[in-house]
Amino acid sequence: MHIFKLFLVVFLFATITSVSADHLEKHSIENRIKPSGSVYLEGDDVPVSKPAVVESSGPRTAEDIYKVSCAACHATDAIGAPMFGNAASWADRIAKGEEALINNAINGINAMPPMGTCGSCSTDDIAATVKYMVENSQ
Ligand code: HEC
Repeated sequence: MHIFKLFLVVFLFATITSVSADHLEKHSIENRIKPSGSVYLEGDDVPVSKPAVVESSGPRTAEDIYKVSCAACHATDAIGAPMFGNAASWADRIAKGEEALINNAINGINAMPPMGTCGSCSTDDIAATVKYMVENSQ
């Protein structure tokens, strides 16, 4: 009879722990598969989070780009770059045509680095900057 009681106790204990383990597991599965977002339907009270205000610095002008990225080399003729505002140093280059100058500024030529080192410039930015330099150097 003693041994039977012992079995009963063990059996009950095992049942209780497995039931509560089941319950815990179900709970955590529900947590894991619940939708990650909420869907709002028309008419629902939607919590609105205001977008952060981003101050735009405005579009850069060709002059800005020239000053920041190109002037280091083009404001002087020290390293053989055609000098800004110096018609004589630009004449031969301008004769090649604007398209050729823009392509060389984009792809680089000799000591002229591709994109003039302006990593944030688009090819349109470079084209506009080349035009700006040419317009002011003839
Ligand atoms: C590290 C110095 C350096 C920087 C920065 C630089 N250039 Fe140049 N650039 C040169 C040199 C040197 C040449 C002459 C290359 C040659 O013809 O041998 C040149 C040539 C050019 C030419 C003439 C290309 C041709 O076909 O004759 C253009 C146009 C030009 N650069 C535009 C720019 C623009 C636009 C920027 C800025 C976005 C810029 N460069 C930044 C050094 C520089």
